[in-house]
Amino acid sequence: MAFSEQQEVLVKEAWEIMKPNLPQLSLRFFTTILEIAPAAKNMFSFLKDSEEIPKNNPKLKVHAVKVFKMTCESAVQLREMGKVVVAETTLRYLGSVHLKKGVLDPHFEVVKEALLRTVREAVGDNKWSEEMRGAWSVAYDHLAEAIKAEMKAEA
Ligand code: HEM
Repeated sequence: MAFSEQQEVLVKEAWEIMKPNLPQLSLRFFTTILEIAPAAKNMFSFLKDSEEIPKNNPKLKVHAVKVFKMTCESAVQLREMGKVVVAETTLRYLGSVHLKKGVLDPHFEVVKEALLRTVREAVGDNKWSEEMRGAWSVAYDHLAEAIKAEMKAEA
């Protein structure tokens, strides 16, 4: 099924609402990841040795914002080109980082769920809809598939 202009609009609309609040949303995103999968804590260098989720850690923010932003970029690419195109070097890097950290397919589902909950909280119930959820899901799934394929190619 093609990614529609309306779906692209829904992803971008949420992203615009999220942008001014990235430090707080990054924290919510990681809190949600650990609520769903507490064991994921040990994977992240910035979580492993601390009792609480650090509030101002640049690495935490980088990961969260990359997931938000790359999903948004994927939505644009899906609409324009019908597929997600991550630059070759970026994809190779993403593949190797995640492979080295021991990330497995089910972890991508955890991150997806945390992403969807974070977007929902960010936009609020007035703007959140099944269509918005669907648009973010499809964009994320295509991005995750690209990273997973690279991880398999490298393994
Ligand atoms: C690192 C993006 C999914 C775990 C990174 C980095 C990027 C990234 C860009 C490198 C950050 C840096 O240079 O410091 C993404 C994207 C994802 C995704 C776009 C999904 C579409 C996941 C999943 C997991 C995960 C599902 C596992 C729960 C990690 C870990 C690191 C990492 C453990 C190393 C971070 C550290 O300890 O400093 N990811 N990631 N990622 N990612 Fe992901």
